[in-house]
Amino acid sequence: MKKSINTLLKHSSFSKINRSANPAVVRASTILFDSMQELASHEKKILNDKPITHYAYGRYGSQTTIELQKIIKELEQAHHVFLHSTGFGSVSLALMALCKSGDEVLVGDNVYFPTREISEKLLPKYNIKTKYYDPNNINDLKSKITKKTKAIMLIHVLGTSTNMSKLLKIVKKYKLDLIEDSCESLGAKYNKRNLGTFGRFGTYSFYYSHQITSGEGGMIVCNDTNDYNVLKSLRSHGWSRDTDLHNSFKKNYKNIDDRFLFIGPGYNVRPTDIQAAIALNQFKRLNKFIKTRNTNRNKIINFLKMDNKWNNQFSFVRVDINTKPSWFGLPILINKKYAHIKKKFLNHLSKKGIENRPIISGNFLNQPASKFFNFRSTKMDFKNADEIENRGFFIGLHTKNLKQLELKYISNCLLDIDKFI
Ligand SMILES: Cc1ncc(COP(=O)(O)O)c(C=O)c1O
Repeated sequence: MKKSINTLLKHSSFSKINRSANPAVVRASTILFDSMQELASHEKKILNDKPITHYAYGRYGSQTTIELQKIIKELEQAHHVFLHSTGFGSVSLALMALCKSGDEVLVGDNVYFPTREISEKLLPKYNIKTKYYDPNNINDLKSKITKKTKAIMLIHVLGTSTNMSKLLKIVKKYKLDLIEDSCESLGAKYNKRNLGTFGRFGTYSFYYSHQITSGEGGMIVCNDTNDYNVLKSLRSHGWSRDTDLHNSFKKNYKNIDDRFLFIGPGYNVRPTDIQAAIALNQFKRLNKFIKTRNTNRNKIINFLKMDNKWNNQFSFVRVDINTKPSWFGLPILINKKYAHIKKKFLNHLSKKGIENRPIISGNFLNQPASKFFNFRSTKMDFKNADEIENRGFFIGLHTKNLKQLELKYISNCLLDIDKFI
């Protein structure tokens, strides 16, 4: 007797791991270790790290942290790399390191919610003003630049990039600094160069629904040694410890016990070595993940388009010709005529084991939290965000190669959309 697709899927390797036909977006990168043996060998490695007393913070650089930083430096072509407990911490620190009282920062309006929190709540406390710009409209960006503008913050979303060449021309012309929030785009490239390495600072997140995960985690890359020292102090309560600034402060403040010397503002966004160990394992597999996800993405799209039932029900993100994306999910836009049945359709996908989620948060102005923020724009200014909220969703992309049967199943479930109209 012919086995049904469901029976076969039940026995396929990845459904055993994830218990769903397609991995959840939130679990897409969370197969941390291929086997228990691999996990055990990592645990052993962490425990063998010296010095063991510094094991919890990675502050002095345990072997794991050093090895990880070395790999990242090679991958990212950046001079300085260091880890944080979250991507949010990395973005905050990059902005704090760069700006001083009276400065203005231009922030892309495709900004993720936590960055709004930083832009509108944290920075104004230090008299730093933020203005939003449309990252797809260079004239809008230009019109917002004033004498006080210090930096442009660019957010690379969903593993892809905007047209960097145009943006970099503006950065150069107006002598501005660039911060790249690459929290969603680790491993993506523009003109063969990693996103996050064009600007003065590049920030990344290892939250568990991104390209790789360390449970929670983040990092900053930069090239300037002074920036590196400032960031290091900001990362750890404004301490001078472990920075090149320590000795000069020690000389000038002889009466203070230099083990506890605070030289500026600071936060605690230090990572743990456990996070570093998990990230180390994941970084080693990053390129393979990127390749496999890219292949899976193309295959799902091809399967859909080759199906007899294909009738342009969906459209997909168009990628700039110079960008080599690093997907973690497959963002999909439902054709306008199906927008009203989106909710029913997504429920159907969930029931079928195709887990899904909204694209970022849709239009943030519709969220209850928006009343706490000081949006200087009306809802009319965010037509694209509305479209994304009404018609967008994404599904996970697995880090293992999808088999024909699995592809067929995913494509069939997606094309079920016609049943709801
Ligand atoms: C663009 C962007 N920036 C910053 C963050 C914050 O990262 P984390 O969740 O690691 O704090 C996220 C999180 O998803 C993000 O997508």
